[in-house]
Amino acid sequence: MDWAGVKGGESVAIFGAGPVGIMAAKSAWLRGAGRVLIVDTLAYRLSKAAASANCETILWEGDGKNVIEQIRSVTYGRGTDVCIDAVGFEPDRSFIDRAKSALNLEKGSVKVLEACMSAVRRGGIVSVLGVYPTTYDNFPIGQFFDKGITLKGGQAPAHKYIDELLEYVVQGKVVLEDVITHRLPLSKIADGYSMFKKKEDNCVKVVLDPWAAG
Ligand SMILES: NC(=O)c1ccc[n+]([C@@H]2O[C@H](COP(=O)([O-])OP(=O)(O)OC[C@H]3O[C@@H](n4cnc5c(N)ncnc54)[C@H](O)[C@@H]3O)[C@@H](O)[C@H]2O)c1
Repeated sequence: MDWAGVKGGESVAIFGAGPVGIMAAKSAWLRGAGRVLIVDTLAYRLSKAAASANCETILWEGDGKNVIEQIRSVTYGRGTDVCIDAVGFEPDRSFIDRAKSALNLEKGSVKVLEACMSAVRRGGIVSVLGVYPTTYDNFPIGQFFDKGITLKGGQAPAHKYIDELLEYVVQGKVVLEDVITHRLPLSKIADGYSMFKKKEDNCVKVVLDPWAAG
């Protein structure tokens, strides 16, 4: 939330209700956000985010225009103070999205980052947690300039924050249990990865437990 500049009272829209997005929501509340919305294409992920991080939920449908409209309609037309991209370059993609990527020789798509730039208010902050591994054509540089958006992101500097974060867990200020959906022994590691990737059995977060019975 340092990148997102959340200090208290801000409206925050998080795209992606995976473990990263849900933990971003918990962090936003911890920093005193005034409102936390979360967006996903999967209803079960949104239910998890609502239950574990008290988020307002928005289901991404079709090209995602409904999301931008909904975010603007609950923020007096302005957009949220902060948008967080917790999806990255591998969003759910249509045939047309895939054809565009092939034509542009790109890996995946920047459509969620574009949606963040549309949903954030003028002068707002877009924080990019989802991975983008390469260059992309048609990046909305005009919108970035016109709206005066601050764009931050990158790999989490885990070493910088880990002591502070563990302390939050020890003090009970952050609960992790409610994000975990599966605990598996090490012998089932391949099943765990497969289930997470294919989003089977309402999977959100798998913990590999060396002491669990195989
Ligand atoms: N910055 C870092 O240091 C760091 C650390 C860990 C993970 N990551 C990255 O963060 C991203 C999220 O990780 P995760 O473990 O939560 O992954 P995940 O796949 O569980 O979550 C991504 C979510 O995005 C949803 N989604 C797909 N298309 C969407 C769309 N158009 N709009 C909204 N939601 C959409 C999926 O349904 C899924 O729930 C990945 O790119 C991952 O590599 C970054």
